[in-house]
Amino acid sequence: MSTVLLSQKDIMKVIDLEEVVQIVEKTFEGLGNGTTINPTKVGLDLGETASYPPYQGFMNAMPAYVGWRDVAGIKWAGGFLERKKIGLPYITSLILLIDPKIGNFTAVMDGEWITTMRTGAQTAVALKYLHKGPSIRLGLYGAGAQGHSQTEAISKVFDIEEVRVYDISRAAAEKYASDMKDVVKGPIVVADTPRDAAWGDAIVCVTQSKEKFVKNEWVKPGTIVFPMGSYQEVDDEFILSADRVVVDHIGQCLHRGALKELVEAGKFEEKDIDATIGEVVAGKKPGKISDSDRVLCIPIGTGAMDVAVASVVLERARAKGLGSSFNFV
Ligand SMILES: NC(=O)c1ccc[n+]([C@@H]2O[C@H](COP(=O)([O-])OP(=O)(O)OC[C@H]3O[C@@H](n4cnc5c(N)ncnc54)[C@H](O)[C@@H]3O)[C@@H](O)[C@H]2O)c1
Repeated sequence: MSTVLLSQKDIMKVIDLEEVVQIVEKTFEGLGNGTTINPTKVGLDLGETASYPPYQGFMNAMPAYVGWRDVAGIKWAGGFLERKKIGLPYITSLILLIDPKIGNFTAVMDGEWITTMRTGAQTAVALKYLHKGPSIRLGLYGAGAQGHSQTEAISKVFDIEEVRVYDISRAAAEKYASDMKDVVKGPIVVADTPRDAAWGDAIVCVTQSKEKFVKNEWVKPGTIVFPMGSYQEVDDEFILSADRVVVDHIGQCLHRGALKELVEAGKFEEKDIDATIGEVVAGKKPGKISDSDRVLCIPIGTGAMDVAVASVVLERARAKGLGSSFNFV
């Protein structure tokens, strides 16, 4: 049997961000009710934090079975700072799908666009269940690929009243403000300092920062904070004093991203997590936050989202005769 090969251009012809948000919501529900299986991702450190090899990068292997699509697959994805110096996106990624009954490889496709879109969609869906809406004010750190997709995806669920954006590159923040002017209903303010962007109903961090730049005392009651970068972007005090902690995947969040350091220091453990986003979407745990709650929400990213989106892409690409076929065997 042949495998369909799909490029980013093919993918973008058959699916849009609004649909990605819907697919991500259904897949979170599957994670919450146990019909989607998503083992903890396996990381390969290529110098992201390790001293050897020296490539300032990482790759993650992210397999999943998605029940509502009856599909299995894996995303092999990572980030490399060197890529940015030669004009490439920070993220690199491929998705491989199989038929879960016999293991035939049905598709190999670009994963970069899907990663960027589903990462925005994860936040949008979490906010749909946690924020009271219908409009929202955002503080955003990181005006790169994810900064754009976070904003676009959130705009599919809420009217965005105002964004205050901070990036260590002012040029990146200004480009973001110009790119997003038709997506955001209200003003986009480029913040001069990190303090100025700690504001709104949700604070979203999508940077490669290894510094804990969001300070506990900046976060007001009624705010949901999303540290989504690969390292810790919020300080220990906020994590330890948040009223609720909601994550997408317990195993992954304990070993990567915002919680890793505190878990290793023995200051944070599994029992400190109140719910998964899946449990909230499936109605098993409370959703909307109160005006006095400060909530930490970490969608660290699951392969299930990528596999689910890729399976819809494959179905439509087949129907349209897109891509090319290849016989590996
Ligand atoms: N949680 C997930 O599912 C998920 C998925 C994909 C990527 N990510 C992570 O999101 C982060 C951003 O990825 P991207 O593809 O948007 O990268 P990008 O390089 O396109 O954009 C990142 C932006 O953050 C800015 N930045 C770096 N340090 C900063 C700081 N201290 N304060 C403010 N801005 C800062 C950079 O100047 C850049 O503009 C990475 O850490 C990546 O690993 C998370």
